[in-house]
Amino acid sequence: MSKRFAVFGDPIAHSLSPRIHAAFSRQTNIPLRYDAIRAPAATFESQLADFSREGGAGANITLPLKATVVSLCAELSDFARRIGAVNTLSRRLDGHWRGDNTDGPGLIGDLSVRHRIDLCGRRVLVLGAGGAARAAAFALLEAHVESITIANRTRERAVALADALAEPDRVTTALPAALDGMPAFDLIVDATSAGHNGTDLALPSTLFASNTIAYHLSYGKAATSFLARARAVGAQRSFDGLGMLVEQAAEAFAIWHGIRPDTTNIYADLRAEDVRILVSE
Ligand code: ATR
Repeated sequence: MSKRFAVFGDPIAHSLSPRIHAAFSRQTNIPLRYDAIRAPAATFESQLADFSREGGAGANITLPLKATVVSLCAELSDFARRIGAVNTLSRRLDGHWRGDNTDGPGLIGDLSVRHRIDLCGRRVLVLGAGGAARAAAFALLEAHVESITIANRTRERAVALADALAEPDRVTTALPAALDGMPAFDLIVDATSAGHNGTDLALPSTLFASNTIAYHLSYGKAATSFLARARAVGAQRSFDGLGMLVEQAAEAFAIWHGIRPDTTNIYADLRAEDVRILVSE
């Protein structure tokens, strides 16, 4: 019988995860069932308990549940513990959940393998200080970037993230207004949710040089404005987060099934389908 997997979140209707895992299943000849389950925060715990009772072997966890689920795990990977968020659950033999976070490795895999970017020694600007920024910043530090500047509308959250990163020699914070006049960065990562609520970040053009890489952690409409701005002011390489989505799924698949699938075809299929998704290489 096929093992059962699911992604829990709210909203979840447009999740690409069932499709990505179905593609991995065909590629590896590992049969599985993978559903998208709408789980509001108020009912998530009981829904997860039902899923476990029904034999669920693993799950992906997405917004707004990534931090909530931490307390439901009997065991956490080092990375999940450090960032305080879980996006992948695996059911242990004793029935309890282990929590991993594959968002960080997904980002690094997309940047360094798919886009062949050497992260070592790069000066990075991270926009935002929420959960997405946290995963990105921890992963980028592990990938040996030279420095990270965290710019966030709310200063306290930027400072809290910098404190958690605990690398004062490599991490500084800035209010958005202080970005004016800063020299160009090697990599600018938009980890804000501004694009989701239709807001444009007013970013000074001086932050972008022709060799600046612009990366938005979201894909589709939410990434459009930031990537268009980056290109308009001369950044030659700009990417949305579709590749990160596919890579984090591959990392989760590897945790569950012991095989890391090749992501080339499913990435190309999804990219080809949505002309609104922006990427320029
Ligand atoms: P996620 O888990 O997706 O990171 P989050 O924790 O709500 O979501 O974080 C959203 C981030 O986007 C925050 O850094 C937020 O800034 P504040 O900490 O000041 O709230 C940032 N953000 C959201 N809307 C924004 C906007 N219109 N302009 C600038 N930053 C915005």
